[in-house]
Amino acid sequence: MFYFPLQLSRLAFRKSMNKTEAKLNIIQTENLSKYFNRGRLHALDSVSLQVGAGMVFGLLGPNGAGKTTLVKVLLSILHPTSGIAALFGKPISDYELRRRIGYLPENHRYPDFLKGGAVMDYFGRFAGVQKEQRQQRIPELLKLVGMEKWATTKIRKYSKGMMQRLGLAVAMINDPDLLLLDEPTDGVDPIGRKEIRDVILQLKQKGKTIFINSHLLSEVEMVCDEVAIMNKGKIVVQGQVAQLTNIGLSYRIQTSPLAESAREKLRTTFAKLALQNGHIDVSVQDHAELNRLIDQLRQNQAEIHAIVPQRRTLEESFFAAIQGATSGDFNEMVAVE
Ligand SMILES: Nc1ncnc2c1ncn2[C@@H]1O[C@H](COP(=O)(O)OP(=O)(O)O)[C@@H](O)[C@H]1O
Ligand SMILES: [Mg+2]
Repeated sequence: MFYFPLQLSRLAFRKSMNKTEAKLNIIQTENLSKYFNRGRLHALDSVSLQVGAGMVFGLLGPNGAGKTTLVKVLLSILHPTSGIAALFGKPISDYELRRRIGYLPENHRYPDFLKGGAVMDYFGRFAGVQKEQRQQRIPELLKLVGMEKWATTKIRKYSKGMMQRLGLAVAMINDPDLLLLDEPTDGVDPIGRKEIRDVILQLKQKGKTIFINSHLLSEVEMVCDEVAIMNKGKIVVQGQVAQLTNIGLSYRIQTSPLAESAREKLRTTFAKLALQNGHIDVSVQDHAELNRLIDQLRQNQAEIHAIVPQRRTLEESFFAAIQGATSGDFNEMVAVE
């Protein structure tokens, strides 16, 4: 009952979308909402998001956060309750956009009597890819995902990791500029996950824009340039992984052993300093203070082995961002080893 009429949303889109931003952003949403259960469940709650061209973008959040709903709205599988969304600077209601998109659905299933190559041909035909192009692309894509040896094996023999890699190849069959990958590494073993990450990075090198939904934090940390953290339908934070994990000027300095007198002097001079076995953890106000510490160490004949900037993990940033939520919501939210 809250559905935005198509024409109206186009008009609103034209009015509100800034032209230069539309050029830069492959995905853009403004106050996008999707309610279920007669408005009682806010699966998406006023989501405003920008994803630039050529970027690997990770949408993180526990199960039920609204990640899949967002992707389905972007693909027009679901209609938004309100708000605006654009892909390649055009409203999502523009049917032609879908030619430029590849989609790996969450928990996808293909008929298991088909062989890998046949699955690709099937979806290629669905996507309107011409026969000659299919014949050229299918072996190329199977090679890209490391599945060329399995093209003639029935997919019922595939592992979960192989199914996901085949799914990536299928998503690429129309040579899309934007890939929407919903939980690409869920249920995949560590070796399989590494292989999928490598494929994603190769696709990035080909200039694709890649949007990944995941509840596996460290997976995303390893491949994404930028992430947004979603909780209960809302984006709680968006930024570069480096920014989100930055904790200011904190360092670990590895040194040769220090004499007790030198240790005592350091303790009295620097407030935020912890002397450990073989290294010093310190937080400083500015780089000048860090240099004073180094000077003092050198004056005390300490040999400096390394100065390592300290970061928190994305997992720690995640929990900082969603503070106030109950821990029960995150039983499914795991950082993989
Ligand atoms: N078709 C639907 N009808 C009713 N509720 C739905 C529907 N699809 C998703 N939901 C609900 O919306 C919320 C977000 O779901 P989803 O987008 O699948 O989350 P995620 O992908 O982050 O795990 C959940 O509470 C889910 O139960
Ligand atoms: Mg999901």
